[in-house]
Amino acid sequence: MSLLEINGLTHAFGDNLLYKNAELTLNKGEHIGIVGRNGTGKSTLIKICTGQVIPDAGQIIWQPRLSVGYLDQYAEMDHSLTMREFLKSAFKRMYEMEGEITALYERAAEGDTGLLGRAARLQEELENLDFYSIDTRIEQVSNGLGLSAIGLDRSIGQMSGGQRAKVILAKLLLEQPEVLLFDEPTNFLDREHVAWLASYLSGLEHAFLVVSHDYGFLDKIANRICDIDNGTITKYYGIYSEFLKKKTLLREDYVRQYAAQQREIKETEEFIRKNIAGRKSRMARGRQKQLDRMEKMEKMDRKEIKPLFHFPELPLTNTEHLAVRHLAVGYQYPVLSDLDFSIGGGQKVAITGFNGIGKSTLLKTLAGQIPSLRGSYKFSDQVVPGYFEQELKWNDKTMTPMELISDARPDFAGKEVRKNLARCGISSEHAMQPIGTLSGGEQAKVKMCLLTLKPCNFLILDEPTNHLDVLAKEALKEALAEFPGTVLLVSHEEVFYRDLVQRVINIGKG
Ligand SMILES: Nc1ncnc2c1ncn2[C@@H]1O[C@H](COP(=O)(O)OP(=O)(O)OP(=O)(O)O)[C@@H](O)[C@H]1O
Ligand SMILES: [Mg+2]
Repeated sequence: MSLLEINGLTHAFGDNLLYKNAELTLNKGEHIGIVGRNGTGKSTLIKICTGQVIPDAGQIIWQPRLSVGYLDQYAEMDHSLTMREFLKSAFKRMYEMEGEITALYERAAEGDTGLLGRAARLQEELENLDFYSIDTRIEQVSNGLGLSAIGLDRSIGQMSGGQRAKVILAKLLLEQPEVLLFDEPTNFLDREHVAWLASYLSGLEHAFLVVSHDYGFLDKIANRICDIDNGTITKYYGIYSEFLKKKTLLREDYVRQYAAQQREIKETEEFIRKNIAGRKSRMARGRQKQLDRMEKMEKMDRKEIKPLFHFPELPLTNTEHLAVRHLAVGYQYPVLSDLDFSIGGGQKVAITGFNGIGKSTLLKTLAGQIPSLRGSYKFSDQVVPGYFEQELKWNDKTMTPMELISDARPDFAGKEVRKNLARCGISSEHAMQPIGTLSGGEQAKVKMCLLTLKPCNFLILDEPTNHLDVLAKEALKEALAEFPGTVLLVSHEEVFYRDLVQRVINIGKG
């Protein structure tokens, strides 16, 4: 029996039909990557699997008594726990067994020796569960995800949102459920942690479903691809690059068959028109019947419109734009100290390095969102910055993209607002929908649109490719390439920035 079987799945939000009679199965040991353009319904599919969204129609059949783990970045956590305590709670059941064993031995010591057998059985079970390697396992996962660098004795309450998401991921991996469900797990990870997670997942015996737009990552972890496109879910066997080839071939095939059918239809219609009243009238009527009965192929929906981002520029000279001297950044505690670097006007720079803590903190400091702890940073007088922060945060989630853009540019007429949004890949229906109900990619595009409203000459971008699909990433890369101003960028996707930046600043820790 399959671990999960979905049949006849149909779901729509208003007029927006996501799937029509779609199906999907997950078998033992399958590593499935879920792909598709922004807004095709990947996150919704995961939520349907977990029961958070009830579809309009369809059966979702899980194998009974299966343990399923789902990465919920927004899960409630007890903030007074240390990270180590939180991670240990992944093994709650085993600690309970250990407690029971101790109690049994105590009672045996008081004379009740009949309990020793049960204690021994529990002991054996614990050993089989690898109870005595828990500390090593916690260490492996925390090292891999860069949590050890923060310190396992730090309390959850003292951590940033991104760090908390990592701790939740770590706990989930330690629990080793029989099926894992992930929605874009690389969004809050650094490059080295993405690499670690990829090798961890690829070696896993258990099955998983992972949504991702990070194709290097998918190529490493998935042996099946489920493509959500045009209302259907298609499962392909093989890795991501094989899927791309197959999909292109299938598409070309379809286009060929469709063209052939269209030709046939046209010729038949021509024949009928010429002959319906003449000598061959009977034949023409026969042809008409044939035509009526023909199963007609639908024209391939070519909705793949690439967004166009354009960052309006301000003049600049190529003198020093930013000077950072002995800078320390952080919160109650410094995360990074003694930073020293400068960036010249018009330079494009990526920041990499140090294990998992602080690149966002540095960018937040430079953008003036949090105070610096020591040292200084100075922008030249001509600099007008624009900042794209990593998280999708909205003050009011019920506001629509139309309202958000109008608020930022009260001088825009409604038509202009709509045009700007459309250019960034937001359809007119989505422009009228509360921002909180938009998909991750759609929200990121609105955020990008906001950034294009105000001319600047220094862009500070924190993981700008998160949530964006292939076409949107391409569009962003093109926009940055033609932007003449300075760009300071943090991204875990090396393929995105490698040929875009002239310089990589690698910051060592401490
Ligand atoms: N509660 C809701 N009300 C109305 N529309 C919604 C709601 N939730 C999602 N949608 C719409 O349904 C579509 C699918 O959303 P979903 O989040 O599943 O997309 P996705 O494939 O995960 O996209 P992305 O790649 O951007 O993460 C989107 O167009 C979104 O705007
Ligand atoms: Mg999504």
